[in-house]
Amino acid sequence: MKTDIAIDGPAGAGKSTVAKRVARELSFIYVDTGAMYRAMALCLLRQGIGVQDTAGIERACETADITIVYRDGEQQVLLDGENVTGCLRTEEVGNMASVSSANKKVRSKLVALQQRLAREADVVMDGRDIGTKVLPDARVKIYLTASVHTRAVRRYEELREKGEGVFLEKIENDIQKRDEQDKNRENSPLRQAEDAILVDSSDMTVDQVVEKILSIYRERGKA
Ligand code: DC
Repeated sequence: MKTDIAIDGPAGAGKSTVAKRVARELSFIYVDTGAMYRAMALCLLRQGIGVQDTAGIERACETADITIVYRDGEQQVLLDGENVTGCLRTEEVGNMASVSSANKKVRSKLVALQQRLAREADVVMDGRDIGTKVLPDARVKIYLTASVHTRAVRRYEELREKGEGVFLEKIENDIQKRDEQDKNRENSPLRQAEDAILVDSSDMTVDQVVEKILSIYRERGKA
């Protein structure tokens, strides 16, 4: 069995914050797969390819070069050689990624990249289909979730801190819509793997979630 840790769950559950911390504690590599889908979405937006243009998406997918490198331990995503990491976390790119990630060719291209990274090192990988599809033999599979309201409040506070004017109700609606898209798509829908452990972070601090995952990892290590 591989020693990797797979963390799946809906948008805003705190996967990346927790996964980064767990990776640091164990000296594993953190792989943010959402960033890869976002890079592909950015590529489509830049080329003006619409979400309905399946042939255009698949053509762009064949030619786009998405590469992952690590600088000072932080994942960087290169799109056709350009470091686009700083351009990925906008609502526009996120909304496009939620739709374009449903495309079969986009998924198989990025799943191959993710599996290659996991062959090279021990990883903590987060996403939507890591435990079900990308790393079915991961030592630990976590399904990290939180209520829609909790996730919306977290996002609201994050955006307010950045000085962005936002409405909580709109964020809650967006999160609900994203959940539906991620869970109901035909290819690799978001779902809890049978052997994944459910962690609901609604009433937990980041420290508590990190500690819980580390203790599950240690327990599994003994098994
Ligand atoms: O986790 P995130 O918000 O950065 O992900 C952006 C989008 O990419 C999200 O709507 C779902 C998709 N995604 C996916 O389909 N599979 C993954 N393994 C990771 C993300």
